[in-house]
Amino acid sequence: MLERQRAMSIPRLQEIISRSLKKRQSLQNSETDLIRLIDGSGDELPGNILESYGEGWLISTTGPGLNPELRDALASFGKPLYWKRLDQHQKESPVHVSGPEIPGFFTGMENGLKCRLSFQSGYSQGIFLDQRDNRAALRAMVKPGDTVLNTFAYTGFFSVAAAAAGAVTSTLDLSQVYLDWARENFRLNDMPPEDHFFCKGDTFHWLRRFAKQSRKFNVIILDPPTFSRDDKGKVFRVEKDYGRLFELAAACIVPGGKILACTNYRGMSTQDFMAQLSGARLEAAEMPDDFTDSPYLKSVWATFP
Ligand SMILES: C[S@@+](CC[C@H](N)C(=O)[O-])C[C@H]1O[C@@H](n2cnc3c(N)ncnc32)[C@H](O)[C@@H]1O
Repeated sequence: MLERQRAMSIPRLQEIISRSLKKRQSLQNSETDLIRLIDGSGDELPGNILESYGEGWLISTTGPGLNPELRDALASFGKPLYWKRLDQHQKESPVHVSGPEIPGFFTGMENGLKCRLSFQSGYSQGIFLDQRDNRAALRAMVKPGDTVLNTFAYTGFFSVAAAAAGAVTSTLDLSQVYLDWARENFRLNDMPPEDHFFCKGDTFHWLRRFAKQSRKFNVIILDPPTFSRDDKGKVFRVEKDYGRLFELAAACIVPGGKILACTNYRGMSTQDFMAQLSGARLEAAEMPDDFTDSPYLKSVWATFP
């Protein structure tokens, strides 16, 4: 695969990049600059993913390095360019490759909502772009005053999307760093974080606690990592345990409420995933149009009677 790319000239690569950018022209506008620009095989560049994060570009590769011709072809577009290796075991921050550097935090935009980003705060940049359509769907479906619980929330951008439609959100994550980042995302959008709830801790623990308190939500977002441990060290594996997680969440849903159940686990079909979700009407959602390689994110909206 690397050989094929090595054989490609810089002008040929520039052509491929320009074509991919053109294909996504309608997605990128003054309201949205957080999109996937090249998606591996889906855009003739297997093993390479290019994403726009606000003013910057990030090229991620499955291989150990960035192919020099591809680096030069990308650099010719003049954007701040960063690179990272896609490696689930050694998760490192991107490194600067060319163009102006972007130090510290900066801002990107999704459907008019601002998102705090960083190329220096670790492996992930502050937002998962593959959830853009799900965030838009959430924003479109909630009504002012609805309650939304965003579990495994990371930097809370699902919460921001729901709050933009008037929902009262609860943002739940194990990490204090990400909860503080989520608060910053609210502030960036002129929404006082004090009007919302932030819960630090384990999703399984909190869901049991909410159920005991009979605390219920209109919508719950479930987007867990493929593998996780709860606060008692009990292991969670998507392929075996999603049904248990879904049941805990279902106990905290108002009649007529919804759960968005997601997983990016590649080793399971959408059908097998859906078979783990019971007691609700299920509707699978597609990945966003800029994700042109094989779809990996399974998203199911579950509506309760
Ligand atoms: C893949 S990210 C979720 C992405 C997020 N749903 C989004 O679209 O922005 C996983 C997050 O789950 C959190 N996490 C992992 N295990 C957890 C647990 N048991 N309870 C709560 N949060 C957990 C991590 O800290 C991380 O922020």
